[in-house]
Amino acid sequence: MRVLGLETSCDETGIALYDTDCGLLADALYSQVKVHREYGGVVPELASRDHVRKALPLVQKVLADGGCARPDAVAYTAGPGLVGALMVGATLARSLALGWGVPVLGVHHMEGHLLAPMLEEERPDYPFVALLVSGGHTQLVRVDAIGEYKMLGESVDDAAGEAFDKTAKMLGEPYPGGPHVARLAESGDVSRFDFPRPMTAKPGLDFSFSGLKTHTLTTLEAAGGRGQVDEQTRADIACAFQQAVVDTLVIKCRRALEQENLHTLVIAGGVSANKELRRQLKLALEKLGGRVFYPGLRFCTDNGAMIAYAGAQRLLAGEVDGPEAPVRPRWPLDELPPLGGASQAA
Ligand code: KG4
Ligand code: ZN
Repeated sequence: MRVLGLETSCDETGIALYDTDCGLLADALYSQVKVHREYGGVVPELASRDHVRKALPLVQKVLADGGCARPDAVAYTAGPGLVGALMVGATLARSLALGWGVPVLGVHHMEGHLLAPMLEEERPDYPFVALLVSGGHTQLVRVDAIGEYKMLGESVDDAAGEAFDKTAKMLGEPYPGGPHVARLAESGDVSRFDFPRPMTAKPGLDFSFSGLKTHTLTTLEAAGGRGQVDEQTRADIACAFQQAVVDTLVIKCRRALEQENLHTLVIAGGVSANKELRRQLKLALEKLGGRVFYPGLRFCTDNGAMIAYAGAQRLLAGEVDGPEAPVRPRWPLDELPPLGGASQAA
């Protein structure tokens, strides 16, 4: 089955064609970063308009690259995300499917992220623990199979990616800030500032990152203030911040694996592109005699391939949208049905 996947939940238009026998046939990504940069964050209305402009030309390109005139099904991100942006993808996907006379299915964005490592040659076996770290979510999930998710812990305030973005802003770096903080941190001295590892002293698997943001601000002000500190100090703050986030995530992943008595960890979502996080989780899992799996770098952040893959698995199991399937800007991951479960229109 060849599935066309459309991702438009936020500021990336991602389109891909996935074949359940041959794997990924073609994919294309357009990032709206330049559109939103001058505002320091995503402007929802501009995001929707840009998806309208870019989605169809990218669909045409992906179909041409994949040598396919008519796929067997269409999958799109139905949520969570920005409502207008989601509606662009949903409307285009459902119109294409109607025209082609093929089934269409709305996919959960975080399930897409969670399954992105399955696009790689080496795939994890179920069950595993997944750390989902994106701009909007930080979650630890026990995964027994597709759609069998148990939420183990999540952020009570800011997501890890959001904390990276806010820290970047304070340090005068552009949006989205994660990669910029990571770059600054490379030349930083990790021992100069001591940042807290929030919610690690007491038991539990929830996260809190908003205090770290405040800590960054206080440290920056004590060192001379925003826009006044030298390059080395900016690097040292970025380094201390990144180390605190990475340590916190590693501690909680270890705790989750011990609690569930599992040895396989999957990390996915934009922050899983962070090299220091990947390096430290790999070390931690080696010590535990386990293994960590992550998507290739281009499938860590939002992309169409993960939506085409996740949609393909559910479409193969017989799921399809009904005529009135809504988009769901808020959609808890653990509300998803098991594979082959109720269709989303139900
Ligand atoms: O998954 P994603 O593309 O979009 C959402 O679903 O939110 O994640 C975007 C987030 C942003 O907050 C961005 O700053 C962060 O991922 N990010 C990173 C890195 N690359 C992207 N954070 C830390 N280090 C990175 N290398
Ligand atoms: Zn995402």
